[in-house]
Amino acid sequence: MEVTPLIRMRNIVKKFPGVVANDQVNLDLYAGQIHALLGENGSGKSTLMSILSGLYRPTEGTIEIQGEEKRINSPSDALANGIGMVHQHFKLIESFTVAENIALSQTSGSVLISEEEIVEEITRLGEKYGLLVDPRAYVWQLSVGEKQRVEILRMLYNDSKVLILDEPTAVLTPQETRELFSNLRNMADNGCAVVFISHKLNEVEELADQITVLRNGRVTGSIGRSEINQTRLIEMMIGRDIITAYEKSEPSDKEPVLVIDNISALNDMNTLGLDGITFKVRAGEIYGIAGVSGNGQRELAEVLAGLRHTLSGSVKFYGEEVVGLSPKEIIGRGISYVPEDRLGMGLVPKLNSCDNVILKEYNSEKFSKGHFLKRDAAIAETQRIVREFDVKMGSIFQPVKMMSGGNLQKLLLGREIASKPKLMIVLYPVRGLDIGAIESVHKLLLQMKENNTAIILVSEELEEIAKLADRVGVIFSGKILGEFPVKEMDTEKIGALMAGIVGNGGAKA
Ligand SMILES: Nc1ncnc2c1ncn2[C@@H]1O[C@H](COP(=O)(O)OP(=O)(O)OP(=O)(O)O)[C@@H](O)[C@H]1O
Ligand SMILES: [Mg+2]
Repeated sequence: MEVTPLIRMRNIVKKFPGVVANDQVNLDLYAGQIHALLGENGSGKSTLMSILSGLYRPTEGTIEIQGEEKRINSPSDALANGIGMVHQHFKLIESFTVAENIALSQTSGSVLISEEEIVEEITRLGEKYGLLVDPRAYVWQLSVGEKQRVEILRMLYNDSKVLILDEPTAVLTPQETRELFSNLRNMADNGCAVVFISHKLNEVEELADQITVLRNGRVTGSIGRSEINQTRLIEMMIGRDIITAYEKSEPSDKEPVLVIDNISALNDMNTLGLDGITFKVRAGEIYGIAGVSGNGQRELAEVLAGLRHTLSGSVKFYGEEVVGLSPKEIIGRGISYVPEDRLGMGLVPKLNSCDNVILKEYNSEKFSKGHFLKRDAAIAETQRIVREFDVKMGSIFQPVKMMSGGNLQKLLLGREIASKPKLMIVLYPVRGLDIGAIESVHKLLLQMKENNTAIILVSEELEEIAKLADRVGVIFSGKILGEFPVKEMDTEKIGALMAGIVGNGGAKA
């Protein structure tokens, strides 16, 4: 006898103006299984799952839940049917507590439950699934990993049987990823169907029972755990091979152009986020900063971009002090910052691509004459970036919040690279990008190096640093604990430094 899938999506079509995001997609989800969705940026993964979770209505096609055809008209409708989703961009209210956020999503809206009961239930679920978070904490006080736990707890609180996670590991540390994986397995073992979207093949290989691959909105294949094979998956995703190692020119021997001397600064919690940071970067050099995120990387980038005050120390760029300059003056010196929070800091969600491209330069000669905007120049520049970086979207006049996660990142990077900076600080540049796009971003960074740009590359992936950087500095707790030429990079030693372990005695820094 055949087992009925918990969810059966049949011939799903979703059209947006100018794009077919899903094209005759079939997908079956079974209780007890972790199902991975793979595919390039813009291939339709988030759209498909947004249909299942009630955010979008399909243009065509049907959804069956345990063999019965259902219409899912809204996210609360989906929750009432046991379907919950954690989106690529979290949907929590920062000024509310964890318990309040979870109470808001309650499906049994008519029954009043006391806050005390909610707190108790969250604590119970947290213990059962190893999702520890203080129910009374405010969301703004939580780390990204904790916010994600709240989103998962919210699904469990609502008794969801279908749990959808859209690129959950893109924002997690390796340690948090481990914990998430064991939690997801636990939930599947408890009878849930889990959908897991990721661009990281090794994660998919480790976790998935079944894998479905999308390309241009269509399913190109679905394979079981035993058939997993990276080459075949890549082939299904992008229809070609990718390069795994790049030609890299010799490390730069030019003069250092950026000299950071003993910088200290507070973080958002008003404790010491940077504690005497000192290093130099040459023109035409890629300086990698390795470390677990949350150890001062963002604070350092913000100091260099003029977005954060310093307590002490100096930053000289081409011989001139830049500490104390405004962000605008710093942009004027040729320093570009690509933040990790794309929609929060890099791009304005409500504006379209064209307005976002000219955002930082709208009053430069390039785009304005007197008080007038050179509309045609702005459009031409946007089209050029879209073409060169292969950014997929409906139209350059749509708000960027409608773009897929990876395409947002390509647009932001494209804009920064097009401004031809002398120094570029990039945080986690390939987060959320598909393997083809990673390849193009990496090549672009190497090309910028050839053009003499000094680059600070902040990454959690040692492999990425090894591929691109000339030197690597390891950051821990606001300090650079060690610095090495990449040629002499010893993964084990760097791993230990990333955990704050210095010297042979295993002492914590
Ligand atoms: N609300 C929307 N309005 C218009 N177009 C949209 C909307 N949402 C998605 N699209 C378009 O539909 C296509 C599929 O996008 P989707 O977000 O599903 O891709 P994805 O596979 O999740 O990509 P990524 O890996 O980058 O997150 C893209 O071309 C995107 O620009
Ligand atoms: Mg997506």
